[in-house]
Amino acid sequence: MNKLGILTSGGDAPGMNAAIRAVVIAAQQKNIETMGIKGGYQGLINRNIDRLTPFDVDRIADKGGTILKTSRCLEFMEEEGRKKAARVLEEFGINFLVVIGGDGSFKGAEKLHRLGINVIGIPGTIDNDFAYTDYSIGFDTALNTILDAISKIKDTDFSHDKTTIIEVMGRYCGDLATYSALAGEGEIISIPERKLDFDTICSQIHSKMASGKHDNLIIITEKMYDIEELKKYIEKRLQVSVRTSILGFIQRGGSPSAFDRILASRMGVKAVELLTEGYSGLAVGIKENKIISIELENVNNIRFDYHEKLGLLDTFSIFN
Ligand code: F6P
Repeated sequence: MNKLGILTSGGDAPGMNAAIRAVVIAAQQKNIETMGIKGGYQGLINRNIDRLTPFDVDRIADKGGTILKTSRCLEFMEEEGRKKAARVLEEFGINFLVVIGGDGSFKGAEKLHRLGINVIGIPGTIDNDFAYTDYSIGFDTALNTILDAISKIKDTDFSHDKTTIIEVMGRYCGDLATYSALAGEGEIISIPERKLDFDTICSQIHSKMASGKHDNLIIITEKMYDIEELKKYIEKRLQVSVRTSILGFIQRGGSPSAFDRILASRMGVKAVELLTEGYSGLAVGIKENKIISIELENVNNIRFDYHEKLGLLDTFSIFN
């Protein structure tokens, strides 16, 4: 009998539970036993593995986080750690593995594939930092969490004619900032793919203020600047007071959106299908609303294209 191991790795993302549920149910329907590996790759190395039945995953699709818990595992980054993990899989008779996670998790999955493990990756990260897929699980929910926060900040900014810098997550990817600026009416956006210097940000605010717009929203991706330094710079140059808001980990939690639950369900079923059809070393994704797959080794070979979205933002932020 085939045995499937499933783990979540890296940062958690809303919708991971819906993906776990989908994998367990799809596997059960193909008479495959599922083993839940707790705590990501570290849990695999530590043999933290238990049977996972459809009853265990019943009513979890609406829950944020991951019932399997997750970690960022340093030991697994070493060859010896990965060999240990492969031996544990053999010891438990696990011949199929599903890894739900982001970039680092996929790198680990690809290395396990090279060690002869049958593995499929499901993209679960709020960052949406894979260009091979239109969406990763968790992005839509995080985006809506950001929009909820932006909307509240906008109310008070309008009342007080204030400018606020909002820092969102995304690691080195500008998707969360770009989409939230588009949907949340952000005036100025700076992302790793088009980083604005302090003076450019100041001159953009200045031109909006000159045209009578005083409540400006600056949306930036994390890790690019010291947000307090940017605030002080703007305040000194333009003689205005600026607010800052780092949204932080509220972006990672919460009940997944309908979109994320459905995406997770589709990807989970596809992952099981691929394994039973004899495929390995693939990542599932979504393109033009179709579930697709691509070699794990190629997930980062496709480039992001922000041209259209940034063009829209530039169009919407003109006030004169
Ligand atoms: O990858 C998801 C993410 O939330 C990033 O946006 C962020 O940079 C990072 O994880 C934070 O990681 P940690 O949970 O290790 O602090």
